[in-house]
Amino acid sequence: MSEAKAGASVIPFPPEPAPRRATVEVAEELLRPPCTLVIFGASGDLTRRLLAPAIAHLSRDGAISADFAIVGVARTPYTDQEFRAYLAGGAREFTPPTQGRPGELPPVVRYLAGDFGDPDLYQRLGATLQSIEARPGRPRNRIFYLATPPETDPIIVEKLGEHSLATPERGWSRVVVEKPFGHDLESGTKLNAELRSVFEERQIYRIDHYLGKETVQNIFVLRFANGIFEPLWNRRYIDHVQITVAESLGVEHRAGYYEHAGVIRDMFQNHLMQLLCLTAMEPPAAFEADAVRAEKVKVLQSIRHFPEEAIDDWAVRGQYGPGVVGGRKVPGYREEEKVAPDSTTPTWAAVKFAIDNWRWAGVPFYVRSGKRMENRISEIAIEFKRVPHALFGKEAGDLNPNVLRLRIQPDESVSLKFEAKIPGTVLQVESVTMDFPYSQLGAPIQGGYERLLLDVTHGDQTLFTRGDEVEHAWQVVTPILKAWEKNSATDFPNYAAGTHGPDAADRFLERDGRRWRTLR
Ligand code: BG6
Repeated sequence: MSEAKAGASVIPFPPEPAPRRATVEVAEELLRPPCTLVIFGASGDLTRRLLAPAIAHLSRDGAISADFAIVGVARTPYTDQEFRAYLAGGAREFTPPTQGRPGELPPVVRYLAGDFGDPDLYQRLGATLQSIEARPGRPRNRIFYLATPPETDPIIVEKLGEHSLATPERGWSRVVVEKPFGHDLESGTKLNAELRSVFEERQIYRIDHYLGKETVQNIFVLRFANGIFEPLWNRRYIDHVQITVAESLGVEHRAGYYEHAGVIRDMFQNHLMQLLCLTAMEPPAAFEADAVRAEKVKVLQSIRHFPEEAIDDWAVRGQYGPGVVGGRKVPGYREEEKVAPDSTTPTWAAVKFAIDNWRWAGVPFYVRSGKRMENRISEIAIEFKRVPHALFGKEAGDLNPNVLRLRIQPDESVSLKFEAKIPGTVLQVESVTMDFPYSQLGAPIQGGYERLLLDVTHGDQTLFTRGDEVEHAWQVVTPILKAWEKNSATDFPNYAAGTHGPDAADRFLERDGRRWRTLR
């Protein structure tokens, strides 16, 4: 007879505390804090394509305060009215039809033209902010949004500090920093130090727009709101993971930046490392900024250091040549506007990551990304181990491994591939899929900037990268950058636009007895 049956008293567990993020009634002030959004680099593409539509959607949905104000800052001369028209045009043009009408911009939209290094600009900015904040009513908060190249970020931050703009008399101030966050580990670390000399870490929001994507946030939910996946999410059951971000677009008009960046700085150091971290991280203690970010940092710390001298065992690079994408002839990278005719900038890369911890020892994460590939597809595929014993003889057909596929874009979905018997008198097996398309939920999928901007107004840093996280991500990719800079590629271009990437990438996986997934 067990002790319990014999009458020994059983001490019950205390009840679980309510989740730390319990819904409470929040004052209007906290729900929709009145803020002035100061956009540096306001005349640029990012403001028009991404920020303008996001603000217009938030305003339409009543998600931001009626007292929200925008101040654009850039070199291009605009009047306030012209800048408003510029934003409104962007909001109209870049609101997809599925999202309805964009909504009105906030009533207060101002614009200041000037050079980011000129003290006079900051005096005018101070006066503009004061005039906005002097309006009777509630306190004013300030969001400084740096949609600027990384080399100008320190100048702006320093000037904000010198002119005491980061310390409003009433309310808070926060700074949002767009990628690229520095050019390498050294400049990224320096930028962190410069930001922290004016702002505290809790005021710094380093944006990675992949974290704003619904399907990326759903990785948390899929893993930690379901009981069935987590027990299998480890080296005992998973053979390997493939993460792909394939783009069909080329470098477009961004060669000035891209020539110095290349695919590792542009995609791996940030978006792809985030996808890898969310897939590999341990469950955080709470769904809160520091708990989540601490777990991501642990993943980055567990990634095996790449040996610079043997980088070919770990990474493959590529650059697109001319080809056909979507039935249209397109030029090669070296023929693009402002690209050097002998450029050795990689536009494609595949990297094998080894995560040395208890959960992932021996499970490779193959990560690839490239421009001008045949399709625009981003996905995470978890390939499970094969069954240990083939029970059904050869005539039943080959048995394939199960694959859980998280399709990030464009046809957002989660699907599970498994083996099934084909109806009939003979036992034959075929792979089938169970599919959950996001469209089934009915709600339109927003661009990501809406959520991220709103989180900045609410002071929630969960979906933003912490300073140490950015530095660890740089540390991970630095040996690849160094090795490739030391030994320039001699075989570029090595894949035609509209294909899946260089042939060397196929051999890279074949060496491990595996194949890349076909992207469709
Ligand atoms: C940006 C990169 O961060 O992400 C671009 O600088 C890339 O080169 C883009 O095209 C991809 O984002 P998305 O959301 O289209 O997958």
